[in-house]
This record gives sequence, C-alpha cells and structure tokens, in this order.
Amino acid sequence: MNPIISVSNLSKTYSGGFTALREVNLDIHQGEIFALLGPNGAGKTTLISIVCGIVNATAGTVKADGHDVVQDYRAAREKIGLVPQELCTDSFESVLATVKFSRGLFGKAPDPAYIERLLRQLSLWEKRDSRIMTLSGGMKRRLMIAKALSHEPKILFLDEPTAGVDVELRKDMWSMVRQLRESGVTVILTTHYIEEAEEMADRVGVINHGRIILVEEKNTLIKKMGSKELLLQLSEPIKEIPGPLADLPLELTGDGYQLLYRFDIQEGDTGITNLLRRLDQAAIDFRDLQTRESSLEDIFVGLVRGARQGIDGDTGDGERR
Ligand SMILES: Nc1ncnc2c1ncn2[C@@H]1O[C@H](COP(=O)(O)OP(=O)(O)OP(=O)(O)O)[C@@H](O)[C@H]1O
Ligand SMILES: [Mg+2]
Repeated sequence: MNPIISVSNLSKTYSGGFTALREVNLDIHQGEIFALLGPNGAGKTTLISIVCGIVNATAGTVKADGHDVVQDYRAAREKIGLVPQELCTDSFESVLATVKFSRGLFGKAPDPAYIERLLRQLSLWEKRDSRIMTLSGGMKRRLMIAKALSHEPKILFLDEPTAGVDVELRKDMWSMVRQLRESGVTVILTTHYIEEAEEMADRVGVINHGRIILVEEKNTLIKKMGSKELLLQLSEPIKEIPGPLADLPLELTGDGYQLLYRFDIQEGDTGITNLLRRLDQAAIDFRDLQTRESSLEDIFVGLVRGARQGIDGDTGDGERR
C-alpha cells in the first residue's frame, strides 16, 4: 500500500543557522494513528509545519496523498487538517461562523449537515453562537479540531492536542480520535504524555535532535524493548551485592533493602529460578517480591537519554529512516 504521507531526506536549517531536522525519512500509512514522540525542541512542530506547507524545507521532499507539498501545495493542503500547538483563538467570531469560514478557505461547498455533525461530535453544538473568546480552554481546543476537520481532510495532524487539558476531556479526545480513525482519517499526533501514545497509537516514532531515531509498531516496541523487573524486599539490608551473585543483572536499591533484577520478556528462560536458588545459597532472605513490566514511558526515557545503545541500527520492520 502506498503511504499517505511520505517524507524523504527532509532537512531544515532555520535562517539563524539552527538545524531542526536532519535527513528525516518517514512513511505514514493510510488509516493509522501515528504518535510522534520527542523532547522539547526535538523538531516535531517543524516537521509538521513543513508537511502542512507552513515552513519551507531546506532539503528533501514531502508527499501527502501523492501530492508534493511544495509543487502541488493546494492539492496537498486540502487533504490535511492541522490542529496547531499554539491556539490562536482570541476572536469575536462565533463558533459556527469560524468553522464554516475554515471550510470555505479550502474552496469546499457549504455543507451545514456535516458542520452540525462535527460540532455535535465535539460537544460544541450548544456553543455554536458563542463568541470564541468566551469559550473555556478545553472548548477552544475542541474548536481548533472542528476547524481542522471542517474541510473533511483525510489526514489530521494534532500537535500536542491535550496539553493542559483535564483528564476527563483528554479521554474524550482519545475516543474522538479513535472514531476519526474508524471513519478512515489518518491521524498523526505529537504528545508529551507517553500514556497517550500508549493508549492510542498504532505506531510510534521517536525524534531527538532533529533525527528520527526509531519507528516501530507500538506493541512490537513494548515487546521488543521492554524488560520485566523483579523487585525483592530483603529481610535484612545488605551493603553490597555478594561476590557469588555479581554476574547476575542485579541492582541494590532502597538503602540496601531492595534487590532489583531485570530480565528480557523475550527470553524463554527468565533466570528467576536460578536467581532464587543462588540467593538462598548466599543466605539472603527476602520477605516480598513484585514484578513490573516496563511501559512505553520507560522505553522512551531510555531511548532519549541514549542509555540504550545500538538502537539506531535496529528498527526491525524495515522502515525507512
Ligand atoms: N522559526 C524558527 N527559527 C529558528 N529556530 C526555530 C524556529 N522554530 C523552531 N526553531 C528551533 O527548532 C528546534 C525544533 O523546534 P520545534 O518547535 O520543531 O520542536 P518541538 O519538537 O515541536 O518541541 P516542543 O515539544 O517544545 O513543541 C528548536 O530548537 C527551536 O528553537
Ligand atoms: Mg512543538
């Protein structure tokens, strides 16, 4: 299947000389929810802005639904809805007028039934005659989504859609994004809430210092890079890990009261039986043990810190990067 967005060798150096993107290659599949993760300043908004034709690339090309975003700007842009990171909504206009106007900007014929459905879906229909400046922050954010969807785009970019949004509303947004996907819209979102990516994304891309360092199916990522941890609460504290146990992946924490053992989910043999036998031999007693699986957040933090080496050469699914 052809990708709905295809980014090839994209680089961006801003006029001040700062390079925000370095040879980014990325394909987005039709109908997926793709989460782009990365720390502040990684280049997420720059990448989105280039795809949406707001920022010019220094090198490379982007195609949206087969249209080059520079050569064929109008055709490409018409396929795309963008909810920008910065809300620009201090307006005297009414909700309904704004959304209708946005649709008109793309040269689409009016479709009051569609706009009504959209505003109802976003719980904004009751507010349709309110001035934008009188809406709450969460409502303004939903309005931005309504504007972005006003021209029925096939691709929706959500740049930090739930920053500063309360938990309940965030969950509403998640369910709305899933509905959109079901209706065939491809969604690309950036987020600092890893939980959000974990909850929603089909695939995850990680960007750091302007480079895409990983693209992977979310489930594969968690399976492949995740590890499990076994935490042993010791009956008596110890000062150091005894010599005979030094070859095991153990870490002493909790003021000498806890031993942390890490093992790969992949490995058939977790080594736990061996661990317990050797603890016994070393006369280390424990009073409790718990296991914990690493979350997407642990993996992400590890990646961005560069703590895990060799990741760059191992994206697994043959993704261009
Ligand atoms: N117009 C600009 N001129 C010069 N540098 C810029 C410009 N816009 C962004 N940058 C720089 O490019 C880098 C990437 O910025 P970008 O906004 O793409 O990051 P981001 O990943 O979206 O970060 P955040 O998570 O904070 O939104 C940053 O170092 C930023 O300072
Ligand atoms: Mg940003």
